[in-house]
Parts: sequence; structure tokens; C-alpha cells
Amino acid sequence: MGASMSGYIDCHCHISSEDFDKDLDEVIENSRKAGVVALVAVAEHSGEFEKIINLSQRFPGFIFPCLGVHPVQQEKGTQRSVTTQDLQGALPILHKYREHIVAIGEVGLDFTPRFLVSDEDKEAQREVLRRQAEVAKHLDLPLNVHSRSAGRPTIHLLKELGVQKALLHAFDGKPSVALEGVRQGFMFSIPPSIIRSDQKQRLVKQLPLENICLETDSPALGPEKQVRNEPQNICVAAEFVSKVKGVSLERVMEQTTHNALKLFNNLRL
Ligand SMILES: *[C@@H]1O[C@H](CO)[C@@H](O)[C@H](O)[C@H]1NC(C)=O
Ligand SMILES: [Zn+2]
Repeated sequence: MGASMSGYIDCHCHISSEDFDKDLDEVIENSRKAGVVALVAVAEHSGEFEKIINLSQRFPGFIFPCLGVHPVQQEKGTQRSVTTQDLQGALPILHKYREHIVAIGEVGLDFTPRFLVSDEDKEAQREVLRRQAEVAKHLDLPLNVHSRSAGRPTIHLLKELGVQKALLHAFDGKPSVALEGVRQGFMFSIPPSIIRSDQKQRLVKQLPLENICLETDSPALGPEKQVRNEPQNICVAAEFVSKVKGVSLERVMEQTTHNALKLFNNLRL
């Protein structure tokens, strides 16, 4: 493998979060020092799209934008299930930036009970995911997928829609369901919070290294609960994967970066 492969790709992070407004340059510098060569910056709603595009222009060839509408939306300090109206507002902006993005995301299903007021909420989430899967197919881009308390419904819907390129981030479902995704060719990205999650450790044991990518989900899912996570912590995830799989750290770096570049076909280091 070429020299460009030696480094980590953080396949899912929220670098546009306000948590990074004050010290972004330092956060980026520290991630480079830790061996990160690219960040895939995901969006949750249309209000973030322009900021993410701007960041990708400020850090060209390092921050790669990924635009989409998340199944859970913030509104007036609370969280609610997504609606098709949320998507309607986002699609024109997403299309405007289509040449710049490496994936559609963060999209998916979140069936956490407190976000679901009725069964219609689940159907709306499915519809929003379906339509974004169509956009991804049309643009020949992968999906960057969130699923919480919805592992099986997410994998099954993606399969039903004929999705072939997807990254399941911080997957919280059963390994047996994840393996259905592996048979479909999906990648699974592992965050630093694996060090405190039995479920993620079991998942990594079952997943082939050929289907594993690395992520941080910064500022969430860090090694320590309630502490701001940063892309430099990708090493924590990599080291843990190396331990669980019984392979060298170098091998984990090479294979996960190879997997990420295969998935994000527009990402050029
Ligand atoms: C993005 O950059 C443009 C051009 O520099 C600027 O006008 C705009 O305010 C920026 N938007 C955000 C959300 O940062
Ligand atoms: Zn996320």
C-alpha cells in the first residue's frame, strides 16, 4: 500500500459542533499529530450544512463533508423525531453542495422510546431515510448511518432499498444482525467508547477486519463519559481493535483506512 495510506480516517465526527468553535485549529493540529489524515464531517440538520462546507474549504484535503438529515432533530432545547418537512428544507441545500460531499449523512433510524410519540414517527423516519438513500444512489455516494435501538430495522430497510454502500456508525445492535450487514458489504465504524462498552467489544470480535472502519463521533462517544471527545482519540479505538483482533496497530491502521477509501469513493487524500 502507498504512503498515503499511513494514517487514520475518522469516518464519522461532528467537527462543526459548537464545542469546537473556540479551539478548532488546535484540535485539528492534535489530530494530525495523532496520525489522522482525514475527517469525515457529518451533519444532523440543514442548519449545519454551510458551516461544514466552509470548514472543508478551510482544511482542504483534510475535512471531507457529509450532508444529511438525522432521525432525531433538536427543537427549542428538546429532541424530537424527524419529519419529511425537515428533509424538504434540507434537500435544495444538499443538492447545491452535491459536488463537494463524500457521503449522505448522518441518516438512519432511532427508535429510542422517548423520541417516539406515535407509530407515525417511525414511518416518518423510514421515509426520510428512504428518500436520502435515493439521493445517495443518484449521486453514487455512500450513506453514513446512525441506528439506535433500531439495529435490525435499519439493516433490513437498507437491504430492502438495495443500498450497497453504507457505514453503520457506533452500531448498537446484535452481532448477528451486523453480520447480515457484512453480507451486504456494509462497513461498521468503531468509536473510542468501545473501551467502556461490552456490546461494542462483542461486535468487533465478530466483525471481519475487512468491514471495520474507525470513527470518533466527536464530541460524543469518547473514552471517558461526559468528557469532550476529539478526533485525536481515534488511536484509542484503533488500539482496542488491535487488541481484540490480535493484530498489530499498523495492520489496523492500514486495513481500516483501505476500507474507508473503498467506501468513500470520492475521498482523495
Ligand atoms: C461560510 O463562508 C461564507 C464565505 O466566506 C460566509 O459568507 C458565510 O457566512 C459562512 N457561513 C458559515 C455558516 O460559517
Ligand atoms: Zn454522530
